[in-house]
Amino acid sequence: MKTRAVILAAGKGTRMKSRRPKVLHELCGRTMFEHVLHAVRAAGVGDVVAVVSPDLAEAVERFGVRPIVQEPQRGTGHAARLAMAALPGDDPVLVVSGDMPLLPPKLLRAVIDLRDQTAAAIAMLTADIPGPTAFGRIVRDAGRPARIVEHADASAAERLITEVNAGVYCFDATALRGYLTQLNASNAQGELYLTDCIQLAVDSGALVDAVVSRNPRDVIGVNTRVELAAARAVMQRRILRKHMLAGVSVADPASIYVDVDVELAPDVTLLPQTHVLGRSSVARDARIGPNTSLIDAQVGEGATVTYSVVRDSIVGAGASVGPFAHVRGGSTIGDEVRIGNFVEIKKTKLARRAKASHLAYVGDADVGEAANIGAGTITANYDGARKHETKIGARASIGSNSSLVAPVEIGEGALTGAGSVVTHDVPAGQRVAGNPARPLPKKEHSPKP
Ligand code: UD1
Ligand code: CA
Repeated sequence: MKTRAVILAAGKGTRMKSRRPKVLHELCGRTMFEHVLHAVRAAGVGDVVAVVSPDLAEAVERFGVRPIVQEPQRGTGHAARLAMAALPGDDPVLVVSGDMPLLPPKLLRAVIDLRDQTAAAIAMLTADIPGPTAFGRIVRDAGRPARIVEHADASAAERLITEVNAGVYCFDATALRGYLTQLNASNAQGELYLTDCIQLAVDSGALVDAVVSRNPRDVIGVNTRVELAAARAVMQRRILRKHMLAGVSVADPASIYVDVDVELAPDVTLLPQTHVLGRSSVARDARIGPNTSLIDAQVGEGATVTYSVVRDSIVGAGASVGPFAHVRGGSTIGDEVRIGNFVEIKKTKLARRAKASHLAYVGDADVGEAANIGAGTITANYDGARKHETKIGARASIGSNSSLVAPVEIGEGALTGAGSVVTHDVPAGQRVAGNPARPLPKKEHSPKP
């Protein structure tokens, strides 16, 4: 039998006090919904639908999930009814809340396997949590789950129960269809509770069994921004722990943010106050930080990036960026390139060993091998309407405070003097200076034409 999954995500999320649907809030580089979806898929369930509010339908479709719109939201039982109407057949159904981003795939798998092995009508996930509030309590009878009572409906004695409902269930589909027709809203919240299915199953003589999670953090549900921050911190520790065990040095885990999809090679060092976000990757022996952000950046072997921001760009092996540099817009910093302090690089390619060591703006440019860009150089790439390109040949030397007025090409080995305003192409080997820049007399030793 092939288990399908339903992610419940239509809840209003009022406690987030947000215009954004709750499950689209992010932690560690993915929305809550995507974390849950990844866990479901990693547990081996490929066929996934989601019960959503109308404003969420488009987003989940983009994640490759079929949306089932629930409007108005009348509770988790009502959500399950709509899902089951859209899921024909009698294969088992895994139901997971979209607001539990820390659920490990292996626990989802354990719930599916428990139901398969016992042929229970319902297998579910519970956890022991000291002093729970926002959870339904598991009332057991003769050692087996007999019913779930929501916190709002629980008696004082029931509230002392520490075993809680994690909101993950695997149902026999036919049995579930039967229970869903019997739900009613006579409870504190006036909703149809999916949790009432447990008692309905037990009353009908069917088997209900539970996997008990040993780690209460696995089942953290996010209902407020306080819980979102707490979940983020737990997830961050897990991500960093995985990297440290794989050979990454993390100087100060509390101050370092690494998103879930980041790739770090062994012997990478992350120094304090560093963020490595999005789809970034860092190769062996690179040193990142302190105070650095890499966003969708790829950093090569042995490179260093210090007190800098690199976004949507590549930094080559052995290159050095910073302190205080900004590299962005699909730039490629070649191997052994040096980008120094107060340099901005945008949509620019610098070939091997090129240098821009101080105070420069290099945008929409192609810079050749070992070219040197002097302090204060600006590629004037914008004429007020359009962006234009600058080409700087290999080994060219751009003097301090040069303005390269694009489109313009500086030939191989050419030189611009300090303060040049270059408005015309400079042929290979030529030396220019002035405003506008004009050729200088050839050096004594240059061959005469
Ligand atoms: C629910 C459980 C509770 C459990 C807890 C675990 C019920 C009645 N209670 O409580 O026993 O301990 O989860 O986190 O199920 N949703 C819909 N449509 C709705 C209402 C909710 O899709 O009409 C979705 C929400 O988006 C959310 C999930 O279902 O992802 C759970 O709903 P929520 O309101 O957060 O339930 P809890 O009060 O946390
Ligand atoms: Ca919840």
